[in-house]
Amino acid sequence: MVARFTSLIAAIGFIAASVNASGMIAQVVDATNFCVFLPPSDSTDRIISNTEWNANAFCMGSTPGATGAEKLPSGFITSAHYVKTDAYVQVTGQMDYSKANLVGTDEGGQMDVRAPMGSSCAGWDYYVNLIEPVSNTYCMRCCNDTVNCNRGISEKGCAHIIPGDYSGPSGGVATTNGAATTAAATTSAAAASSTASSSSSSSSAASSSAASSSAASSSSAVKPSNAAASSSASPTPSNGNVSEQSLSAASINKPVSFAVGAGILLSAALMA
Ligand SMILES: *[C@@H]1O[C@H](CO)[C@@H](O)[C@H](O)[C@H]1NC(C)=O
Ligand SMILES: *[C@@H]1O[C@H](CO)[C@@H](O)[C@H](O)[C@H]1NC(C)=O
Repeated sequence: MVARFTSLIAAIGFIAASVNASGMIAQVVDATNFCVFLPPSDSTDRIISNTEWNANAFCMGSTPGATGAEKLPSGFITSAHYVKTDAYVQVTGQMDYSKANLVGTDEGGQMDVRAPMGSSCAGWDYYVNLIEPVSNTYCMRCCNDTVNCNRGISEKGCAHIIPGDYSGPSGGVATTNGAATTAAATTSAAAASSTASSSSSSSSAASSSAASSSAASSSSAVKPSNAAASSSASPTPSNGNVSEQSLSAASINKPVSFAVGAGILLSAALMA
């Protein structure tokens, strides 16, 4: 009976994880090679919060770890600021919501390891990714702990959850800088040696931006008060807690038909 129950749970988990068998893995390499989650290309519903459960990874540049991901629409990312610390990697910046057929009044939503269920950021145990069309901002951070990657405060938005540089072609520094400054407790300041940063903007696109420095703040233009955001506490160390991520990357790469078929067979066998 116990074994039966366990199998049933496994079958259900298998089906749940396999509903979106492709495009479930993102990756953050640097400011020109990274992924975010967006509504599936064929989704008629373009509201982020409605499509968190079936979002797909969309990438730009080279992201070999993001198996099955799609390409980000050209021109969607308009600025990207990359930060790496001992505890996480992140990319923050501006986008052009229209390029991904999103809705300009949409306040956005958050994707993480639970939505879409079983999704991940290659090389890390957790991630949080917010897409905010109304302000044309996005943020993506991958961590091995649930403090730096806090799934539980999605309503607070990018600038609070992922303090960083949100500057870009639409200016925009002022819109998020206040929040970023107060929320900076988890930012990187410390260890210049372990912190790298680079930025790119749309005009120079995927070509430039190899430039990186050891400063925690990024290099793109007008950000006089950014010092405030990069000068507080040191990063929270990873506690290596992986219990929350119960679905392995391997299991979500199975083809949908096989997964669902196997699940139905298993369920049928259990009910017989
Ligand atoms: C994060 O955890 C993964 C294993 O889940 C490990 O391979 C990787 O090295 C860790 N990264 C850091 C920075 O600790
Ligand atoms: C690990 O996560 C579980 C559930 O997510 C939690 O109950 C536990 O306290 C966490 N452990 C640590 C060391 O954070």
